[in-house]
Amino acid sequence: MSSVPAAHDGSPRVVLVTGCSSGIGRATAERLAAHGWTVYATARRVDTLEALAAAGCRLLPLDVTDEASMVEAVRQVEATHGSIDALVNNAGYSQSGAVEAVSVERVRAQFETNVFGLLRLTQLVLPGMRRARRGTVVVLGSVGGKLVFPGGGVYHATKYALEALCDALRFELAGFGVRVVLIEPGLIRTHFAGTAVGSIDTGYAAAPDGTSMRPGPGSAYGRFHAEVARITREAYERGALAPLLGTADDVARVIEQALDTSRPKARYTVSPSATVLLFLRWLLPDSWWDRFLARTYVRPGDSAAR
Ligand SMILES: NC(=O)c1ccc[n+]([C@@H]2O[C@H](COP(=O)([O-])OP(=O)(O)OC[C@H]3O[C@@H](n4cnc5c(N)ncnc54)[C@H](OP(=O)(O)O)[C@@H]3O)[C@@H](O)[C@H]2O)c1
Repeated sequence: MSSVPAAHDGSPRVVLVTGCSSGIGRATAERLAAHGWTVYATARRVDTLEALAAAGCRLLPLDVTDEASMVEAVRQVEATHGSIDALVNNAGYSQSGAVEAVSVERVRAQFETNVFGLLRLTQLVLPGMRRARRGTVVVLGSVGGKLVFPGGGVYHATKYALEALCDALRFELAGFGVRVVLIEPGLIRTHFAGTAVGSIDTGYAAAPDGTSMRPGPGSAYGRFHAEVARITREAYERGALAPLLGTADDVARVIEQALDTSRPKARYTVSPSATVLLFLRWLLPDSWWDRFLARTYVRPGDSAAR
């Protein structure tokens, strides 16, 4: 049931969604446009958004690692509508690999997109929301903000960071009439797994002169990385959790519900895989959880892993 009022002048509510070229962002933009929202669908490359234009969305370029593009996108929406009713912070990816083997540049890039970009864009829309004394900030966290899979440490660190930011923001913004909602999907079939697998270091780095490849820090984790890639692929295709996966539209539906209620929950989990994983993590002490993981992953450094 939709209990949130329309904008002050009765016009449709305005939402800005990041990362709409595929997956959850695209499904959210499509769903909200179909249900009467004025949707600003954004992506690094606007040409990836043509189908959303056909679905009634307005398009803007927005790269969450590019300050100028964020400032300009918010300026354009506010110039037309006054303030933004909802921001869906969706853009994100997984930089996978053993923590030791991911270069600091890649760790920084991961945080730039998943945390700093999201934080900065939120800062840019909040003055308008506070002035209007209304608005909802939606953040795409993950069950991966509450539990960690081997080979995902850097990604999980970004999602753990979002848990903290949302808890702080929720309190800091409630008095201004601005709500904060954290979405915690489990495994969802999108391009996410492919990007995660593609981000894993092969174990070799280019020589400084660029003429050859030589073993890099990732080489100590070669077998482990291959296993992480295989398990990631299988988890989304035919592993034990595969029947429990969700779709991008399952997430979009939950986002729509959260936006349509006047008193949204602080957190929404999505998909049966989320429920099962969170229950297991809650149930098992750390040592049991590690043993559980060791049944699936070969531990780096064990003789079998070399
Ligand atoms: N799928 C899952 O299992 C799952 C589970 C829990 C949480 N999540 C979260 O859900 C969100 C959406 O992921 P998804 O599953 O829909 O994956 P996806 O299909 O790979 O979509 C990711 C989106 O993020 C965009 N993006 C990446 N870097 C960006 C940047 N610097 N600026 C703007 N956009 C950028 C991508 O755009 P390009 O096309 O330009 O790369 C793409 O549109 C992510 O935050 C992810 O962590 C996903």
